Amino acid sequence: MPQTLSRFFGIKKDGSEPPFVPQTIPCFGHLIGVMFNRTSYYAKLRAKYGYPIFSLAMPGGRLYIINSPELILAVQKQPRTLSFWFIEASVTKRLGGISDRANKILLENARGEKGENSLVVDGMKATHKAMMADGLDSMTLVSIRRAAQSIDGLEVGNSGKELDLWKWVRHIFSLAVTAGVYGPKSPYEDVSLEQNLQDYASQTLVFLTGLAPSLLVPKAYAARERIVAGFENYFRENSFDSGSELVRARLRVLQAYGIQPQDIARFETVNGFGILLNLLPTAFWTIWHIFSDPNLLQDAQEEARLFLSNPNWASSDSKAEDLMPIVASTMKESLRYHVSGAATRMVMEDYTLNNQYLLKKDTMVLMPNSVPHFDFENWGPNADKFDAYRFSKQEPKRIHPAAFRSFGGGANLCPGRLYSTRLILAVTAMLVLRYDMSPLTSSGTWDFPSHDESNAAIVVAQPKRKTMVKLKSIGGFQSSLQSLVI
Ligand code: HEM
Repeated sequence: MPQTLSRFFGIKKDGSEPPFVPQTIPCFGHLIGVMFNRTSYYAKLRAKYGYPIFSLAMPGGRLYIINSPELILAVQKQPRTLSFWFIEASVTKRLGGISDRANKILLENARGEKGENSLVVDGMKATHKAMMADGLDSMTLVSIRRAAQSIDGLEVGNSGKELDLWKWVRHIFSLAVTAGVYGPKSPYEDVSLEQNLQDYASQTLVFLTGLAPSLLVPKAYAARERIVAGFENYFRENSFDSGSELVRARLRVLQAYGIQPQDIARFETVNGFGILLNLLPTAFWTIWHIFSDPNLLQDAQEEARLFLSNPNWASSDSKAEDLMPIVASTMKESLRYHVSGAATRMVMEDYTLNNQYLLKKDTMVLMPNSVPHFDFENWGPNADKFDAYRFSKQEPKRIHPAAFRSFGGGANLCPGRLYSTRLILAVTAMLVLRYDMSPLTSSGTWDFPSHDESNAAIVVAQPKRKTMVKLKSIGGFQSSLQSLVI
């Protein structure tokens, strides 16, 4: 029986491919392993076999898993042959429910065989450009002001305020980011869309199977459609006129390729994943770590005082990372330590990586983020511990360029990294000077809320359990940031 199965589902292996790791259940062993353990399955195999790269035979195909920083760099040098853009184009149809017509335009030349231009690549170029210089500055400033408005609007009272930290952080940052991107008429100003995005994203894998989401995950499906309706309205009313250069640049590209308004709303709905889903848990962990460690909190407060005393602190000249090296380090360490998921690439044509390993066309390459992030060689003997000060102590050049994967790298380096860093640092500075925060647990200690890594599309784990806290105002600094001029 196993032999019959192997003949039916098996694949033809080539001796030049990365080594195939054996599986206990013929054909399905690795598939089951991945289904039940997600990315930790790759880490387990890496620990067992120690290969820098290996192949997993799957029913009717294979996966390549890359673990070594050297090979990750080699992948980054081939953005067209080992393509992230192709993956982005392929998932948008299922995730966003775009029309067949729009999907055809999206996939047209996604392989790059007809020259440089395609909707995905031009869209990405426009995105990168819109998030630099003035575009970056004004988006950051609008976001910081929106965050300040949320913080100012919270009534803490004399006896303090109890709240769910993850929900509160999500609320401040969802409004801040979406105001920065979409302007004052952002659909996310309807705060129920915040929860809609969470419900929608929690079923990412079901959407990606392409099997009727309206039947299988009706709540997530309805949530997505509510966001789509919000964006239809937004574009119908030309609300993008008061939005960022980013939303306008993306719109110009979509229109230039003939994408119709109802699909534009769907593209922008999917964009919620990129602009929010990694940023929100990064902000949460940064704030959680700072408030849960009294010494770190004191250091952060000192840095925040210095940073906020600069009248131009919200502008690009303020150098938040330089003035708040410990807060910046805590954020980076949060990205390193709470990492999840894997970077994915599609092999567009047969390719020999590093002149060593044959990668076959139409195969998916996965680079699990946790492997380089917990590598003792790169990070030293405390690689498996959270060290908020790590990045303020360690010489940047001593870290291998592919050992820190949280913003990707090469042609696909995250264009939102500076924006995210500035926003998270600025809001953290406001919070540490404004509030005293204590955990509402029976022991009175900050219990680690553990990781929810169920969403394979994001690179930072969300907290699994609630962290209820009590906020008290500590006076002194009041934000009044809304008065900042753009
Ligand atoms: C802490 C927050 C963020 C994290 C951790 C993050 C992470 C990443 C990572 C890991 C990649 C590369 C994926 C890969 O190579 O496989 C990426 C790409 C990207 N990110 Fe971010 N991101 C964040 C915030 C943002 C924001 C706020 C935006 C936009 C406003 C954004 C837009 C993008 C885009 C458009 C790409 C694709 C770039 C390309 O392929 O050329 N990201 N991000």
